[in-house]
Amino acid sequence: MKKIFDDEQFFTGYQELRRKEQNSNDLIIDPALYSLLPDLTDKTVLDLGCGDGKHCVYFLDCGAKSVVGIDISEKMLQIAQTQNANDAIRYIKMSMTDIAELQETFDLIYSNMAFHYIEDFTAFAKTLFDVLNPSGFLLFAQEHPVITATIDGKGYFNRSPSGKKLSYVFSDYGVPGKRVTRWFVDGVEKYHRRISDILNALIIAGFVIERIEEPLPEKWVIEKYPAYADERIKPTFLIVKAHKG
Ligand SMILES: C[S@@+](CC[C@H](N)C(=O)[O-])C[C@H]1O[C@@H](n2cnc3c(N)ncnc32)[C@H](O)[C@@H]1O
Repeated sequence: MKKIFDDEQFFTGYQELRRKEQNSNDLIIDPALYSLLPDLTDKTVLDLGCGDGKHCVYFLDCGAKSVVGIDISEKMLQIAQTQNANDAIRYIKMSMTDIAELQETFDLIYSNMAFHYIEDFTAFAKTLFDVLNPSGFLLFAQEHPVITATIDGKGYFNRSPSGKKLSYVFSDYGVPGKRVTRWFVDGVEKYHRRISDILNALIIAGFVIERIEEPLPEKWVIEKYPAYADERIKPTFLIVKAHKG
C-alpha cells in the first residue's frame, strides 16, 4: 500500500477532519468500540494503525499495564510521540502485517479504521491469532464492506426531486480486491472483502466471534448534525470483537 498518510496534502486534510467537532470517530466509532473493550486492568495492548496515539493513552487510562502502537506513517507517529507520549507506550514504525517480528504476545489487539488497508486478510487473521495471548481479545473497526464494495471506491445516494436522500447504491460487492478512490487526494488504495470473507478468515484462524456491530449515531448526534441521518440508510462502519477459541 502507498504510504498515503505521509502524503502532505492527504495528511493536512485528514488532520483537519479529525479536528472538527463533527467527526465520525468521536461521534460514532470510538463510543461503540470503547463500549466493547474488555477489562484492561494490568493488561498488555497492541494498537494496529495507532495513528496519533490517542487510543493508546486511553488504554492506560483504563488500567492497561503497557501499550504498543504500530503505524507505517512517519507523520502520524510524530504526532503520537509529541502529543501522546508515555513511558508505558512504545510507538513502532512498521507494517501491521509484520507484527510477528515483535516476538511478543498481547492481551488485546485493537485497531480502529486500518484493517481495510490490508490486502491479504486471511493470512493477516492467522498472524493476529498468533500474536494474541490465550485468553486475549481482538477488537477492531473498519470501513463497512457496503462502503468498500464499489469498484471506483464510492457508492452514491438516490435522491428525490427535492434532493432528499432515499437510498444508497453500491455495486461489485462480490468482487474482492483493491479499490482506488479519492479521499482528500486521488489514488487512495484500500481493499474490499465481503462480511463473510472477513468473519470466515477470523473463524478459520481459530477466533470465536463474540460481537458484530454496525454502529449508528445516537439520537442527539442526528439532532445536532442532521447529515448523520445518512447512517440510517447505509452502514459505514463494521466492528468485530473476537477471542481465542
Ligand atoms: C484512518 S487512520 C486511523 C488512525 C487511528 N487508528 C485512529 O483511530 O485515530 C489509519 C491508520 O492506519 C495506518 N496504516 C495503514 N496501513 C497500515 C499498515 N499496513 N500498517 C500499519 N499502519 C497502517 C495509517 O498510517 C493511519 O495512521
